[in-house]
Amino acid sequence: MTINYDFSAFPTLETPRLILRELIADDDDAVYIIRSDIEVTRHNTGAPYTDIQQARTLISDIAWNYKDQSEIRWGITLKTDPSWVIGMCGYNYWIRRDQRVSIGYDLARAYWDNGIMTEALGAICRFGFEQMGLHRIEADVSADNPASGRVLEKLGFKQEGRLREQYWEWGEFHDLLLYSLLRREFERGVP
Ligand SMILES: CC(C)(COP(=O)(O)OP(=O)(O)OC[C@H]1O[C@@H](n2cnc3c(N)ncnc32)[C@H](O)[C@@H]1OP(=O)(O)O)[C@@H](O)C(=O)NCCC(=O)NCCS
Repeated sequence: MTINYDFSAFPTLETPRLILRELIADDDDAVYIIRSDIEVTRHNTGAPYTDIQQARTLISDIAWNYKDQSEIRWGITLKTDPSWVIGMCGYNYWIRRDQRVSIGYDLARAYWDNGIMTEALGAICRFGFEQMGLHRIEADVSADNPASGRVLEKLGFKQEGRLREQYWEWGEFHDLLLYSLLRREFERGVP
């Protein structure tokens, strides 16, 4: 396993339509729009934000975690306007010994169903396998969130388990689906 990435410079990534870049303090309005929308936060990030300060805290936490080398999270922007963040994606933790990370992502509602998250995650998976020396990328997705599962499946992730009634939210228990993508599957290409 070779790790080519040492956190010294933030790894900006480019795809046909997107630039994935570091989040900065000026992204607070954009992050607030994403995280204050109940439709975006419903399945993964808790209660929607009600105060822009929460967006500022998130941005500064992400920066600290990056310095600490425990998290990498990219701001997703369109090439047509790289100054406006429309979503976020990244790795919540990186277990070096196991060459394993957990992936997380969310996108402003106005941009859903245009293949944007599939494009963004494809780029960060490539970065993970090629630069971070990963062996496995894992994801957990609410069973009530089929769009998220579909994004993972389009990228070749396999569903490997269901945690029945694993978490309590909105007055009821929900199942959680576990997915993963292994390096050799990624190298073979999307099925
Ligand atoms: C999940 C999310 C990131 C998807 O982003 P996106 O850019 O819209 O994803 P894509 O357009 O690349 O792909 C979405 C796929 O889901 C499908 N889809 C959308 N709604 C669906 C539904 N209700 N049931 C089944 N499939 C659905 C789309 O048709 C598309 O599949 P296709 O290309 O085969 O047609 C976005 O909806 C989001 O941010 N949701 C809220 C936050 C969230 O759930 N984050 C993930 C937590 S694990």
